Amino acid sequence: VAVGARQAERLLARHAADGHPMPESIALVLWGTDNLKTEGAPIAQALALLGARPRFDTYGRLAGATLLPLAELGRPRVDVVMTLSGIFRDLLPLQIKLLADAAFQAASSDEPLDQNFVRKHALAYQKQHGGDLETAALRVFSNADGAYGANVNHLIDSSRWDDEDELAECYTRRKSFAYGRAGRPLQQTALLQHALADVTLAYQNLDSVEIGVTTVDHYFDTLGGISRAVKRARKQDIPVYISDQTSGDGKVRTLAEQVALETRTRTLNPKWYEGMLEHGYEGVRQIEVQVTNTMGWSATTGQVAPWIYQQISSTFVLDAAMRDRLARL
Ligand code: BEZ
Ligand code: MG
Repeated sequence: VAVGARQAERLLARHAADGHPMPESIALVLWGTDNLKTEGAPIAQALALLGARPRFDTYGRLAGATLLPLAELGRPRVDVVMTLSGIFRDLLPLQIKLLADAAFQAASSDEPLDQNFVRKHALAYQKQHGGDLETAALRVFSNADGAYGANVNHLIDSSRWDDEDELAECYTRRKSFAYGRAGRPLQQTALLQHALADVTLAYQNLDSVEIGVTTVDHYFDTLGGISRAVKRARKQDIPVYISDQTSGDGKVRTLAEQVALETRTRTLNPKWYEGMLEHGYEGVRQIEVQVTNTMGWSATTGQVAPWIYQQISSTFVLDAAMRDRLARL
């Protein structure tokens, strides 16, 4: 809880340092494995942004959320649209209820709307769409039972898309199952779209040095997918951050910085690609995967710098000797 709260403040500080106003609503991608490995630090980030803590019963069992008073929090409650991987949904059912409870309590708390953006947005939704506060306060979204992923990665890999809004549509359809305090999913596409329109920042944690956001296609599938869905809902780009939890106290990087770092240390680093090529065709495949995943970030966020493609081209395609080696392998 303490680590999560510190990282949430680091995220807000970096976002402010980049010249952005205080976010009213943040999209946070939550994965299962990250939370198992860190005893729930990303879950605690969501709670900290909302201004809540886990509540335990007298036996020490997780029993729900409790709100911190605004005076103790020292800033407004930030609205958080939480999207869970299918793995999180399968592994952490109690924590789904915890997060849904925190969002509901925040929305129900009779506080000034400029100090409680969850309530502000929930009341605005109710005014526009009617219904009860329980529905307007749903902030935990995932796949339908038994389904995994947003499928944005498959669209990119197979080039079966023409317009970036198709990626947003695919993401929204797959991830629009809302989980309330009862822990049962109900498809709420309009609610998700409404909530995404309030989002001004999206982020996800990174908890392993073995795997980066360009190593596997799941990062752009989830964080890229939601960023594109927000863009469609707001008609404008939003800043995307990676909360790096791999060393020390943790760091917050922009997505552009993270992709640049991984490109320098992996894709364009001769120690990395020569090591890969020692493995023959599988090494070639890994290089290609890096390039496709980088493209996935461009397609979903548009935040990859042009020099990255220029140098990938000159290193692997325009260099005749290298191109020949890759083709032979
Ligand atoms: C997860 O732990 O939730 C996860 C791991 C790998 C890919 C996607 C999700
Ligand atoms: Mg491929």
